[in-house]
Amino acid sequence: MPSKLPSILLIGGGRMGSALLAGWREQGLSQAVVVDPSPEAAKLAGPGVIVVRTPGKIPDGFTPGAVVLAVKPQMAAEALPAYARYEGSAVFISIMAGKTVHAIAQLIGRQAPIVRAMPNTPAAVRQGITVAHACHHVSAHQRALADALLAAAGQVAWVEDESQLDPVTAISGGGPAYVFLLTELMEQAGLDQGLPPELARQLARQTVIGSAALLAASDEEPAQLRINVTSPGGTTAEALKLLRADDALPKIFREAIQAATERSRVLSA
Ligand SMILES: NC(=O)c1ccc[n+]([C@@H]2O[C@H](COP(=O)([O-])OP(=O)(O)OC[C@H]3O[C@@H](n4cnc5c(N)ncnc54)[C@H](OP(=O)(O)O)[C@@H]3O)[C@@H](O)[C@H]2O)c1
Repeated sequence: MPSKLPSILLIGGGRMGSALLAGWREQGLSQAVVVDPSPEAAKLAGPGVIVVRTPGKIPDGFTPGAVVLAVKPQMAAEALPAYARYEGSAVFISIMAGKTVHAIAQLIGRQAPIVRAMPNTPAAVRQGITVAHACHHVSAHQRALADALLAAAGQVAWVEDESQLDPVTAISGGGPAYVFLLTELMEQAGLDQGLPPELARQLARQTVIGSAALLAASDEEPAQLRINVTSPGGTTAEALKLLRADDALPKIFREAIQAATERSRVLSA
């Protein structure tokens, strides 16, 4: 079956870039060029994929259908102008946090078709969620290409209003960190209660992993799954009573997400 993926020019083969590339390979990627100066990037080469250190080494005649921008945002001004030559032929998909469509267009061309996307790290295991916004220069065909490329890392949702990427960044971009923090806190609490370190670690990890799997497999809402664990007057109820007393946990969580959203707005300005 022919691949539905276009030929891809990937700029930056680091954590996120290489996770995307792994997903594209699974989807039957036929041709990609990766530009990345770091020596580790060389290991990304394989069937249909070549790795070059500079844009000048991109093979003559290579015409990407999509250019994926996966360098750190602070490298954008230096890295992006070299790819302005693809403005008329490729859709640009940026995963750079906080770089607006406007800022990217200033570096590659005002008419450039740009999709700005926010993935998250579970992309590394094809369990990510990416939220994307297409500027008005992106055609329906290019949007479909972008959707197919981003879907290789997990689920994809689209927003019409670019400013919604700020709360998206706070929720799903940073979300894995909150879940990992919870895992750390559960392990520490287990140690504080006298559990052996290996067991405390195992309990915290497998409880998070198992709960996520249950959520994925169940038709029930998280609130119902929580209620299912909570017998009236029991041990879980006792813990939840403390966690939710005086709106403490909901309040700190709301404030934390608001702070992250605000930080995203400041970084995007
Ligand atoms: N990680 C996340 O959770 C996450 C989530 C959403 C979005 N993002 C976005 O994804 C992007 C990549 O993040 P990452 O975590 O994958 O970073 P990373 O691991 O540092 O990857 C960036 C790669 O780009 C390379 N690079 C540097 N200058 C370059 C240039 N001029 N041309 C081509 N490649 C160049 C770097 O090489 P050197 O190491 O040699 O500099 C590195 O291999 C960022 O813009 C970030 O905002 C990340």
